[in-house]
Amino acid sequence: MKILAITAGRKNGNGEILAKEALMRAEELGAEVMLINLHNYDITPCSGCESCTVKFTQKGEAPECIYKSKDDLDLIMKEWLSADGIIVAVPTYQFMPAGIFRTFTDRHLAYEPNFHKQVGSSEYHRHRVGGIICNGGSTRSWMSLALESIHVSMLSQDIKVVDQMLAIRAPRPGQILLDDSIIMRAKQLGENVVTGIRNYEQVTFLGDPKLGWCPNCHSNLLSLGEPHWNNNGFAIECPVCHSGGDLQKNEEGKWEFVITNNTKSMTNSHGAVDHFFEIQDTMKTYFENTELVNEKRKKYSKYKPNTLITIGH
Ligand SMILES: Cc1cc2nc3c(=O)[nH]c(=O)nc-3n(C[C@H](O)[C@H](O)[C@H](O)COP(=O)(O)O)c2cc1C
Repeated sequence: MKILAITAGRKNGNGEILAKEALMRAEELGAEVMLINLHNYDITPCSGCESCTVKFTQKGEAPECIYKSKDDLDLIMKEWLSADGIIVAVPTYQFMPAGIFRTFTDRHLAYEPNFHKQVGSSEYHRHRVGGIICNGGSTRSWMSLALESIHVSMLSQDIKVVDQMLAIRAPRPGQILLDDSIIMRAKQLGENVVTGIRNYEQVTFLGDPKLGWCPNCHSNLLSLGEPHWNNNGFAIECPVCHSGGDLQKNEEGKWEFVITNNTKSMTNSHGAVDHFFEIQDTMKTYFENTELVNEKRKKYSKYKPNTLITIGH
């Protein structure tokens, strides 16, 4: 049983301390563990070329990222894809996950297991379990998009998230150590990831059942449904796992999000497969009109407003 922790904060900072606490518990329970702090590696931002999605959806082929072997991402992904359990510990910057984590996960598109399955690339068929640690200097109101955004990255990777936790009000490095209960919570998260790996088929969410609105992924966000590419969408949807449903009052008079439709859910393969076909369909319009688009683009490539000239450009 192999568990990988990815950290995206300061070395020996709050997130890394919590990730190590979780790993120590997992190791006690028999796991082989590894920790990767993204700050120690060279990860080029995604260029947006979309050669991966074009290859997947238009050519039916498994892609390789254009930066493969040019930086450290592929080496990290080998560990990420072969682990049975993944723990991520990411600090909040500007309500969101720290940018270095987003730089890392933007590059995941070429490694998306459900897209590989669609084109018969069998090396990606694996069960993986995840635990999320999201830490910040403030309370949840100043971390409002962080945990949920991290969760999206795990679901896109087809990782079954069995636990997620917030570590609040610890701005300075190591300050989290003043709160024993949160250290114990991280230890529990490590144990829950091991339990999840051992019971992959049966396991559901092992974290706080009261966390968040969504009974499926425990996100604390909800959005008003908008039309989807191939049908009308839902009255209310979870923006993280894409479960559809509506708000209802329970017996105590409290509003609840009640799920009525899971056909787009990212916690089973339906959501990712639906998105594969969405990309295929949407890009088709482009490929049928390439000459027209290129002709229209000339106006914008010719227009050169003033810009900032720096040494690198
Ligand atoms: C650029 C920057 C932006 C931040 N923005 C937020 C924020 O929006 N909400 C919050 O709760 N904490 C914010 N923080 C505080 C960090 O989340 C906090 O210091 C955290 O403990 C850092 O984690 P680490 O010790 O694992 O590096 C910010 C810190 C930095 C450096």
